[in-house]
Amino acid sequence: MPKHRNIRWQSLAINCDDRSRIKGQRSCLIWLTGLSGSGKSTLADALDHRLHAAQRHTYLLDGDNLRHGLNRDLGFGAADRSENIRRVGEVGALMVDAGLIAIAAFISPFRADRDLVRALLPGRFVEVHVSTPLSVCEDRDPKGLYRKARAGELKQFTGIDSPFEAPVAAELTIDTSKLSVEVAVDRICNYMVAAGYIDAF
Ligand code: ADX
Repeated sequence: MPKHRNIRWQSLAINCDDRSRIKGQRSCLIWLTGLSGSGKSTLADALDHRLHAAQRHTYLLDGDNLRHGLNRDLGFGAADRSENIRRVGEVGALMVDAGLIAIAAFISPFRADRDLVRALLPGRFVEVHVSTPLSVCEDRDPKGLYRKARAGELKQFTGIDSPFEAPVAAELTIDTSKLSVEVAVDRICNYMVAAGYIDAF
């Protein structure tokens, strides 16, 4: 709901289906959730690359990157993480309305926040739980953040001293310690074909 009164919803002539149709796809938001180091960004990037090569019109929203701009004012406390996901959900929903296949890679640790995004996009939200175990993420530690968190130099780090609420009904669950990036991307693409978002390619 808007904060102010006297704001009405303006109905527009061209809608999401119209914009999707001319791209030959059914727009959706593919949402990757999981621990830091679980492989979300790598998977999102490879999926984006695969879909783009198949002439699908995509856009990738990545947590670290959006925190350089739109979400630069937000930290990692619970309220800021919720606001981060709320904003990304709204941006993702605009992209879906624009006819795109949007891909989002965010830790998004709170189930309620992810469910609010799902509720914005009935039938167009695909939750992918990147379920790589904490021990594997910590061994990978690509940015050295787990080491810092264990040393007490970084507070509120997800999986260490900040919670991660795993999805209970994700459309897909992918453990990147068991599947290669290629196979994981195959699985997401196969799901997208089966669910009618894209034609087989
Ligand atoms: S979210 O929890 O709000 O969804 P988001 O995906 O945007 O997080 O950003 C996570 C990235 O921020 C991580 O990949 C990591 O590089 C960095 N980061 C810095 N501090 C933290 C922290 N305390 N917890 C988790 N990630 C952090």
